[in-house]
Amino acid sequence: MIGRLSHVAIATPDLEQAASIYRDVLGADVSASVDLPAFGVTTVFVKLPNTDVELLHPLGDKSPIASFLARHPGGGLHHLCFEVADIDHAVAVLQSRGMRLLDPQPRPGAHGHPVVFLHPKDMAGVLIELVQMG
Ligand code: CO
Repeated sequence: MIGRLSHVAIATPDLEQAASIYRDVLGADVSASVDLPAFGVTTVFVKLPNTDVELLHPLGDKSPIASFLARHPGGGLHHLCFEVADIDHAVAVLQSRGMRLLDPQPRPGAHGHPVVFLHPKDMAGVLIELVQMG
């Protein structure tokens, strides 16, 4: 069901510093920051040959990243994202197999592609995002 690793997401308390490390120290191709108000995040994408790194920073008071940073003040691994060919099919199959989704209705995520999230309690403690790229 799952395909390639779309991105690894890292929450950071200092987005500009984190972006600077990837851009200026590691020499990666780093995007401008993009606000995603529906998710309460500001994102920066680091383009790598085989996947991306998504840097996340809280946007607004109700941001899930703010509560994550309250537990991990220095930042840390927030989620992994895997590609799926058909997200509605993936949701139906996962629910039939007893998996919990944070919200089973796909929403447009970064770059406008529909995404859902699997509960970390079903996924060895790591939040997992699924994205349909097609
Ligand atoms: Co993501």
